[in-house]
Amino acid sequence: MSKIELSELDFFSAEVQECPFHVYQQLQEEAPVWQMPGTNVFVVTRYDDIREIIRDPSQFSSSFSALLNTGSSNEEVNSIYGQGYEMVETLLTQDPPRHRVYRNLVNKVFSNKRIEGMRNEVEKMSHELIDSWIDESEVDLLNRFCVPLPIYVISDQLGVPRSELPLIKKWSDASASRLGRLASEEEQIQNAKDIVEFQHYFAGLIDRMRESPEDNIISDLANNTIDEGRLLTKPEALGMIQQILVAGNETSTSAIAGGVVLLIQNPEQQAMLRQHPDLLPGAVEEILRLETPTTGMWRRATADTEIGGVDIPEGAFLMVRFAAGNRDESIFRDGGAMSIARENADSHLAFGQGTHFCLGAQLARMELQVALTGLLNRTTDWALVEGKNSLRHSPNVLLRGLTDLHIAFKKTAH
Ligand code: HEM
Repeated sequence: MSKIELSELDFFSAEVQECPFHVYQQLQEEAPVWQMPGTNVFVVTRYDDIREIIRDPSQFSSSFSALLNTGSSNEEVNSIYGQGYEMVETLLTQDPPRHRVYRNLVNKVFSNKRIEGMRNEVEKMSHELIDSWIDESEVDLLNRFCVPLPIYVISDQLGVPRSELPLIKKWSDASASRLGRLASEEEQIQNAKDIVEFQHYFAGLIDRMRESPEDNIISDLANNTIDEGRLLTKPEALGMIQQILVAGNETSTSAIAGGVVLLIQNPEQQAMLRQHPDLLPGAVEEILRLETPTTGMWRRATADTEIGGVDIPEGAFLMVRFAAGNRDESIFRDGGAMSIARENADSHLAFGQGTHFCLGAQLARMELQVALTGLLNRTTDWALVEGKNSLRHSPNVLLRGLTDLHIAFKKTAH
């Protein structure tokens, strides 16, 4: 792949985001902390620099919602958001010490022990989904497995009926698209309508859970107290629900779908995994490293500082590119290649690190393990169906996920 003149690099363009790996490598070699020309945005691509930034929230703040919530230039979009609830800082865009107040409310629900306790139920869901197409010879795996599985899991946890899957998917797509900032004006209008609809739906559910509490996350968020005994405001609770929904759906779907494609494209790795199922946890880490569904995140410099020898002025925004760090050759030898037995695969940055380390990391790992085990045990002879797979990704600057995945397979004798 030929090198690009960095002064002409349009890093966030849909073309670069579709096929970014040669650009990541060039940046790592030539300008690992690269200021986008004419902006106050610095793109950070080396593993060690990313780690340093995300482990230091006092110098590199997560209060970057100005980048996400900037009033749209479109009046209609703003007026639609005006009919919903205000967006407030809770988890992802909140700094310590305040961040801890919100995080404590949900940590217990996502603890390792509780997630392990959910494994049997997730296996059951996975088998039910596979049952619905196992007697066919090819399947739209994205829509009949990778999308519904995480949505069913999170809907159960939130206390939303599974029949609401289309709504949850729509709301989560809209939130992800808004976060990723590559939406057209028409899409922005639709996203605004969907997000406001989401807010009103969950505001109603919060009211119901306040009247008669149940054992689910919405009920916990509706009834648990912070700040010496007050309930969360609706915008606080809605902000947390929205993050759990979006962060928990798109990313897990992308990891399962991307993992299947990686195993198809690396048949010797797939054969090894089929022969040695004990390699599964490592394979999942390797898939997370290579796929990195959350490709990057923002930070804001709180003071004049320096990273990787580059001066960063107060107020500058840093794009920490997890997907680039996860292929940094100084940490992961032959980083673009899949090796399910890679010893340090679990050092990847796919879940971030430090204060904002992914709340759902254990859940995502468990879902991936269950999903791949079910697929590997019950189907074999996987192939991409010709003419039905673009292998392209949804345009988004923060999240990366396939837009289609149709596979041919044979049912195993199990
Ligand atoms: C493969 C799947 C997943 C990936 C790749 C992923 C990735 C990430 C990353 C990179 C961060 C850190 C962002 C930062 O440093 O600013 C994060 C945070 C977060 N994730 Fe995940 N995630 C996944 C699954 C989930 C699931 C299943 C849930 C919830 C059920 C979830 C909920 C969250 C939340 C709420 C945060 C914000 C945490 C905080 O700021 O304290 N994620 N995730």
